[in-house]
Amino acid sequence: MFMILRTLFGWVVGWIASGLFALLGRRSQGSLAVRPDRRQFLRNAALGAVGSVLALLGAGFGLLLWPRSTGAFGSALTVRAEDVPAVNAPPFRNIQGKFYMVRTTDGLLALYTKCPHLGCTVPWAGPPDSPHAFQCPCHGSMYNYEGERTGGPAPRPMDLMAVRVDESTGNVIVDTGEISQRLEYRPEQATPYAV
Ligand code: FES
Repeated sequence: MFMILRTLFGWVVGWIASGLFALLGRRSQGSLAVRPDRRQFLRNAALGAVGSVLALLGAGFGLLLWPRSTGAFGSALTVRAEDVPAVNAPPFRNIQGKFYMVRTTDGLLALYTKCPHLGCTVPWAGPPDSPHAFQCPCHGSMYNYEGERTGGPAPRPMDLMAVRVDESTGNVIVDTGEISQRLEYRPEQATPYAV
C-alpha cells in the first residue's frame, strides 16, 4: 500500500513539476502554452518519486532524533520515597536523568552528573566523609558530598537540578530540565526532607 501511494505521489509531483518547467520554458520563449513532452514528464516523475522518498526518510529520521519529553533527561522525573538515600549515605543515581540524589543534614540535592569542566560523566568515588566523594576520570576534578569542587580543573561545583517533595507520598520530583550553576554550597540549596 505504502509503495503504491509513494509511486502515485511521485507521479503527481512529477506531473506538477513537468508542467511548471514547461511553463517556465514557454514563458522564456514568449508563449504560455503548456505541453510537456513524454520524456520530460517521465524524468520529472522519477525525480518526484525520488524526492518523495527522501522527504519521507528525512521525516522519519527527524522523528527518531526528536528528544522525548517524558521519562527522560530534560523532563521531571520521580524518585520514589524508598530510593531516597539516608543522610550522608551513598547517593541514589538516576542514569536517564543524569543526576545523583544526595541527602545532607540540610536536605536533598540533585547533582548533575556532567562535569562542569569539559562535560565528562562524574562517577561516585567513595564514602560521604571522603574529601572527594565524586571524582571525574577525565582530568581529575574532585567534589565533596555536596558537589563542591575539592580539587582539579573544574571551574565550579557540580550543577544542581530543581527538587521538590510530594508531601503526600514522600516521593521526590527532580526537574532535569531546570539546571542551575553555583559558586559554593549553601544550606538553602538543599530541599528539606522530613519523610
Ligand atoms: S571533564 Fe571532568 S575534569 Fe575535565
